[in-house]
Amino acid sequence: MIEIKNLYKSFGNQQVLKGVNLVINEGEVTAVIGRSGGGKSVLLKHIIRLLKPDSGSIIIKGEDITKLAGKKLDEIRSNIGVVFQGGALFDSMTVYDNVAFPLTEKTKLDKKEIHEKVMEALSDVGLQGMEYKYPAELSGGMRKRVALARALIGHPKIILFDEPTTGLDPILVRSIHKLIRDTQKQYEFTGLIISHEIPEIFEISDRVAMLHDGRIVEVGTPDEIQKSDNIVVKNFIMGIEGC
Ligand SMILES: Nc1ncnc2c1ncn2[C@@H]1O[C@H](COP(=O)(O)OP(=O)(O)O)[C@@H](O)[C@H]1O
Ligand SMILES: [Mg+2]
Repeated sequence: MIEIKNLYKSFGNQQVLKGVNLVINEGEVTAVIGRSGGGKSVLLKHIIRLLKPDSGSIIIKGEDITKLAGKKLDEIRSNIGVVFQGGALFDSMTVYDNVAFPLTEKTKLDKKEIHEKVMEALSDVGLQGMEYKYPAELSGGMRKRVALARALIGHPKIILFDEPTTGLDPILVRSIHKLIRDTQKQYEFTGLIISHEIPEIFEISDRVAMLHDGRIVEVGTPDEIQKSDNIVVKNFIMGIEGC
């Protein structure tokens, strides 16, 4: 579904990605783990072309999106939903308007159709009755749900999550993870989740990839990753700093 090949990216003289290779299988949830500042968000931003690599390619549906522009790029992008780190909700807009935003901006659907879709997405994430609240009036967990509803609204084939549970307590982490997994089954998207949540992320991932020193150093099922002999992976899972 998504094939990342030999991706390189530097900012000034800081090399962040040094030849990332990763295949994200259709219909699966793939987690990317790795230390803070290691380039996980930079990698994700390449997949929606918020960033352009220095070299390498990203193949989505047979097209190298690093080389696309204009309508073709918009078309691929319209099939990708994103839950940004922190949620990135518009504080001055109600929950309803936040969730409706991708449809009001990018489609020609009429008000009634948009209303139906917004209500459906809000119900799917357990936020019925919250449509006239503002983000500031919601708990951290609810804000994450709004961000998920906004990513789901256009029924994209791919959803990218950048640390979707940051700042939540462990019980809420589990409930958001369960919601991601439940909606993934219902909407049948392919998911890429950047995560810090060890070990919780293993419960909802089909595959886990470890990004270290600008490369994917290990990929496997959660079970394989947890039993890995790779010292970098072991240390990271055990929470040893500096890995
Ligand atoms: N637009 C940018 N310009 C310059 N440096 C950046 C930019 N985006 C990210 N970086 C740097 O790239 C490195 C990786 O960042 P990031 O991908 O956000 O890490 P993380 O793995 O925590 O998500 C960091 O050192 C960060 O400062
Ligand atoms: Mg990040």
